[in-house]
Amino acid sequence: YVIGVDLGTSAVKILLVNQHGAVVQEVSKDYPLIQEKMGYSEQDPNVWVDQTLAGLSELLEGFSGKREEIEGISFSGQMHGLVLLDEDYDVLRHAILWNDTRTTAECKQIYDCVGEERLLAITKNPALEGFTLPKLLWVKKHEPQIFSKAKTFLLPKDYLRYKLSGEIHMEYSDAAGTLLLDIVQKEWSKEICDLLGIDVGLCPPLVGSHEVVGTISSDAAKAVGLSESTRVIAGGADNACGAIGSGILEEGKTLCSIGTSGVVLSYENKSDKDFAGKVHYFNHGAPDAYYTMGVTLAAGYSLSWFKNVFAENEAFEELVKEVNTVPAGSNGLLFTPYVVGERTPHADASIRASFIGMDSSHQRKDFVRAVMEGITFSLNESIEIFRMNGKRIDTIVSTGGGTKNETWLQMQADVFNAKIVKLKSEQGPGMGAAMLAAYGCGWFTSLKECADQFLQVEQEYIPNDQHVEKYGKLFILYKEVYSHTKGLNE
Ligand code: XUL
Repeated sequence: YVIGVDLGTSAVKILLVNQHGAVVQEVSKDYPLIQEKMGYSEQDPNVWVDQTLAGLSELLEGFSGKREEIEGISFSGQMHGLVLLDEDYDVLRHAILWNDTRTTAECKQIYDCVGEERLLAITKNPALEGFTLPKLLWVKKHEPQIFSKAKTFLLPKDYLRYKLSGEIHMEYSDAAGTLLLDIVQKEWSKEICDLLGIDVGLCPPLVGSHEVVGTISSDAAKAVGLSESTRVIAGGADNACGAIGSGILEEGKTLCSIGTSGVVLSYENKSDKDFAGKVHYFNHGAPDAYYTMGVTLAAGYSLSWFKNVFAENEAFEELVKEVNTVPAGSNGLLFTPYVVGERTPHADASIRASFIGMDSSHQRKDFVRAVMEGITFSLNESIEIFRMNGKRIDTIVSTGGGTKNETWLQMQADVFNAKIVKLKSEQGPGMGAAMLAAYGCGWFTSLKECADQFLQVEQEYIPNDQHVEKYGKLFILYKEVYSHTKGLNE
């Protein structure tokens, strides 16, 4: 057996997986967001640790096999969050999370000091509020007494792994989201550190996702009931682990994951692609691979917003039940899903959503379908960027909320003009972490071999030519809405 731990933003999900890839036990433990001011989003790293230990204990209570049979444990985690540690590796302040937006001034500082060209050349990514470096600069400026005590910093799941193993590392797929990593050379960028007055010595030692960093510490082993021989494998960023857990392990494979936010990501075996920072470009959890990624900030969130405002007392299944009776194009109703701003392709925190084309004959189900179509159009903007840069996108594995409804699955095939694949047991990043543990323990010669054994296709959805044409025309209109609604909120 292996254990995959996914340290998410709202909960930690833990999977116990057997040698065939079947999930035999699973546990989830949640924790709150701390939002002291508008735009702030923090969590207490030690609450992550306590909840993970409680979750592991619960998982193991229900496990009847021998403890030694659990060979390895690995981790997936929310990206970018800053965990600042002092010389005893104790936490100096709450972690500042990926969805915290207080650092607009620090993003500007990065462009002013490093220059956009060098930043893109080294990190392949733009300076966004969510990334780690702006958060480091924010603490340096606003909490100098705390910053001066900092010995190093980690990302959320790297801190959790440290607490379970006693070993301090950051792993590449997550380090790629700090804006401090030279993602091609796979080393910390002294140039960026120097230009911003950050000691490169603050950056922790780097390690590969499938590497064994040690074994579980005896304290942690005792606390949860694991054997001290259980190996600890580094793990990866949640998006990298989501890719692994969905089999996005070779050129041509793409993932569409619809959660609160939505992600489209595509495997890259080359390090020299240039997307000019329009989409993210991160190290994969698979050795020497990368992935390009676009993000829709309010994907599932747009639908839950609609439900909360217009159908508070109804179950989701009820709300989306009738969308199959509305034709493609929602009878002329168009929605842009910018209820909390947008990331790809606009990187615009202040743009807001719109319904366009309302008719007195429209019913609620037209609105629901329009919301789903708008979310899918937004994700298609990322796919369009991939395609314009020469990527072949013909098969997309769909995961998350977008797979809970047949009409939405077919809609993805029609809007993306690609075959959509739904997997049988869909566990996302937690499964990716378990697969890294299995590979790290030597069960397989590659992650691809592990995916062939662990993942099975449940169903495929083929594009319908008429709908592809209809959506193609609507997508052109959709893309125009952004510039025309940009001034609304200013
Ligand atoms: C990626 C990002 C989010 C977090 C959420 O850039 O900010 O997907 O990883 O966990």
